[in-house]
Amino acid sequence: MSNVLLATDSTALHQRVHEASGGTCIAVPAHPLPADPAHLLAQLQEQSLPDILVLDATRSPEDALALAARFDREVPGTAIVLIGDADTLSLDAMRAGVRDVIDAGTGVEELRVALGRVAQSLAVHRAQPVDPVTAMPILQAPGRVLSVLSPKGGAGKTTLATNLAVGLATATPGSVVLVDLDVQFGDVATALGISPEYTLDDVVHGASLHDPIALKTHLTLHPSGLSVICAPESPASADAISGDQVSALLSTLSTQFRYVVVDTAAGLGARTLAVLDHTTDPLLLSTFDVAGARGLAKEMATLRELGMLTNARQVVLNFADPKSGLSTQDVEATIRSKVDLTIPHSRAVSASLNMGVPLLQHKPRDPVSKQVGKLLAYYADAAAKRGNGRHRAAA
Ligand SMILES: Nc1ncnc2c1ncn2[C@@H]1O[C@H](COP(=O)(O)OP(=O)(O)O)[C@@H](O)[C@H]1O
Ligand SMILES: [Mg+2]
Repeated sequence: MSNVLLATDSTALHQRVHEASGGTCIAVPAHPLPADPAHLLAQLQEQSLPDILVLDATRSPEDALALAARFDREVPGTAIVLIGDADTLSLDAMRAGVRDVIDAGTGVEELRVALGRVAQSLAVHRAQPVDPVTAMPILQAPGRVLSVLSPKGGAGKTTLATNLAVGLATATPGSVVLVDLDVQFGDVATALGISPEYTLDDVVHGASLHDPIALKTHLTLHPSGLSVICAPESPASADAISGDQVSALLSTLSTQFRYVVVDTAAGLGARTLAVLDHTTDPLLLSTFDVAGARGLAKEMATLRELGMLTNARQVVLNFADPKSGLSTQDVEATIRSKVDLTIPHSRAVSASLNMGVPLLQHKPRDPVSKQVGKLLAYYADAAAKRGNGRHRAAA
């Protein structure tokens, strides 16, 4: 089990974290929290650096966030977890390099799971060799290409792609890139609230297409640690981007990132077919209605014919409404395939899009965030199985 340093004044929390960490927790007072990580670490005396720092942010969230940010910069080998309200703290926490925000009332079992997850991602992060020139992780195998596809616009591709990418980046910092391949009308930059200096246009027409070092200078970084390639500003210049260029870009990216998440335009145009050629994990998305299911059935039939419908696919229905008169079984009969996940309608989705903050960060407990969390768990599980050499694609 990992060494845990806990800063809190609550004996009840200390007791629970102590149990959850298998007795490896050292507690120090949280009031007042020092501004300097060295002052906190000085209280450890002879002990080695902690694997996980748990900061109780319930009394003074601003001090906890400031200390977390400094800790993240100055003690990079330690993962930081905050105790506090996830809904209000998550975004600032992510910006400060915090791995997880856990509610103050969380029980021992849930704490054990959460700390285990943090320890696991820390172990992966530490084990990963870094290329001294590009400062990117050296991959043992090509990265996974997760493409979000749907026959029609407005199904929620951008919503799903951005939240999924941010979730993956939070779990595996520095290992995820999101590419907006809805080249004409892509709105990933808006959804993430970022203003890119370079876009897909610069990437495909320069040396970066085949050169990872040049490529790195053209990426836009999101506060979650996600790298992003945004769609071009002008739909006209976007149209000049070919399927071959898309193909070359995805090949280069998959040598540099563990996960390449691709947001696509509706339908199966030349660029999306090039994306499919590189896709290891297709995510097929449709609205939960008759027209959506029929469109999805046609798209899946085409992919089946092309031999592109791998078993690792995930079929996701958005805007699920139990009162619509349509059941998941009806859709499954239409598409001749299992539905893996349904996502309900939530007003928080458009609010978060307007703010430019992914829902997963803005409202981690929203029902839509919870469903995205299930997809993240599926990909983490698939990665763990591959790691053990017994990867089995989802049915
Ligand atoms: N589950 C949901 N609940 C409520 N609104 C949603 C949901 N999913 C998507 N939306 C909204 O629907 C619109 C289209 O979503 P978007 O992700 O842009 O779709 P696409 O990229 O497939 O065109 C956006 O305004 C988005 O906020
Ligand atoms: Mg879109």
